[in-house]
Amino acid sequence: MDWGCGPGRLIRHFPSIIEGNSKLYACDYNPASIDWCKENIEGVSFSVNNLNPPLNYEENKFDFIYAISIFTHLSEKMHKEWLSELYRVLAPGGILYFTTHGASFRKKLRSAERALFDKGRIVIRDKTEEGHRSYAAFQPENHLRNLLKEFEVLAFYEGDMISDKPQQDEWILKKN
Ligand SMILES: C[S@@+](CC[C@H](N)C(=O)[O-])C[C@H]1O[C@@H](n2cnc3c(N)ncnc32)[C@H](O)[C@@H]1O
Repeated sequence: MDWGCGPGRLIRHFPSIIEGNSKLYACDYNPASIDWCKENIEGVSFSVNNLNPPLNYEENKFDFIYAISIFTHLSEKMHKEWLSELYRVLAPGGILYFTTHGASFRKKLRSAERALFDKGRIVIRDKTEEGHRSYAAFQPENHLRNLLKEFEVLAFYEGDMISDKPQQDEWILKKN
């Protein structure tokens, strides 16, 4: 399940590369993206969710959920609520992969923001509507680890700088 699939940049490739009888799902809170996906991508069940949880799926449903650059656009409160919701719909033994704006983005921060980040606090740029791509969250590794108590952290990869561009941190978690 691709949570925050946008116009299907990633999920559109899965129908041709996934073998066996896996079922593919994707959702986003932007109805225009989901309408486009439904019209243009076959082999995936698409649905719209709200900015806030819950998702319209039963508990323990998914073996794998990924969320590429979604927490990067949400408030601290929503981090907590969505992590609980993703935990709910993940099957026991299931894997959650997501990305965040970690230390490689530090030099993009203004000095007051950087001071907060260095104290291990989440930095939120909330001048626009939550969820929008210009609403931004920057998450120090330890801040996020404290929110992940329900999960086992299998791996954490800090984002590199590639051609002077910061890359997002990657998290791989398991529901035991
Ligand atoms: C930077 S885009 C990433 C899109 C896609 N994951 C990708 O990698 O191409 C952020 C996406 O998160 C979606 N989004 C933001 N808040 C959301 C929420 N609460 N639930 C679902 N999708 C959300 C936006 O509509 C947008 O499609």
